[in-house]
Amino acid sequence: MKAFRGAPSLFASTAPENRQAHLEVKDLTLEFGGITALSKIDISVQSGELISLIGPNGAGKTSLLNCISGHYTPQRGKITLNGEEITHLSPHQLAAMGIGRTYQSFELFGEMTVLSNLMMARHAHLKYNVAEALLFSENVRTEEARQRQVVEELIDFLEIQPIRDELAANLPMGLRKRVDLGRALALNPKLLILDEPFRGMTLEEKDHMIRFLLELNDTWQQTILLVEHHMSAVMSISKKVIVFDFGIKIAEGSPDFVQNHPQVIKAYLGDM
Ligand SMILES: Nc1ncnc2c1ncn2[C@@H]1O[C@H](COP(=O)(O)OP(=O)(O)OP(=O)(O)O)[C@@H](O)[C@H]1O
Ligand SMILES: [Mg+2]
Repeated sequence: MKAFRGAPSLFASTAPENRQAHLEVKDLTLEFGGITALSKIDISVQSGELISLIGPNGAGKTSLLNCISGHYTPQRGKITLNGEEITHLSPHQLAAMGIGRTYQSFELFGEMTVLSNLMMARHAHLKYNVAEALLFSENVRTEEARQRQVVEELIDFLEIQPIRDELAANLPMGLRKRVDLGRALALNPKLLILDEPFRGMTLEEKDHMIRFLLELNDTWQQTILLVEHHMSAVMSISKKVIVFDFGIKIAEGSPDFVQNHPQVIKAYLGDM
């Protein structure tokens, strides 16, 4: 394994077998009244993969992430994580099982500092993992210090030391997104799902985010499923790209393959 800046114990202390995240989505259909947001979707994410999901506005990308994280319940189909069915579990149960996510709009608490936001996410993780919390409960202060250490390592990893005491609401978009990634990572997720992690970023901010995602994936085999509109970023970081249009999966393959796929070109030209 490569040397790692900051080497967060969050990742280093978790045995590789406990970071396995094989996601299978089979024949998933999600409807809202007369609208079919997702139609017969099949998707497979192998442990250690970084996969991007793209498609025009309203294609169903966020809806799929919402089904995987338990925010939406599909009418038909099945979702499994490491072979276990998770289709009807709640967001809390899925977070406890190791599905961490960020949202298209922010989930940060604007009136809290960066450090407090991360500490809160970390505490939520412990609350989910009751056994772990109980195991350490004989010394609450030691446990608090241990969690603080994990968060400090996360702050180092994400290079947000200078803004640790800033209120989240006062941060520029790129840094808020980075803290938001930290919030999801504080859950120590097996599967990380990101909804538009580059949204609203400058070129430089985007480059930073790309570096963090690649480092997570390359060095720690973090399994990542991300949704994005920024094509250059998607094509540069993903080995596999999945394309949705009107709730249907229209293509799947290497960046080269999907960029030259006639249905994908048509979907995007139509969007323009
Ligand atoms: N809670 C909801 N209630 C009703 N319709 C919804 C709901 N969530 C999503 N939809 C509809 O489902 C379809 C897919 O929406 P979704 O948000 O998944 O698209 P998307 O691919 O994420 O688009 P964007 O790129 O604009 O974020 C849209 O027609 C949307 O209006
Ligand atoms: Mg969306």
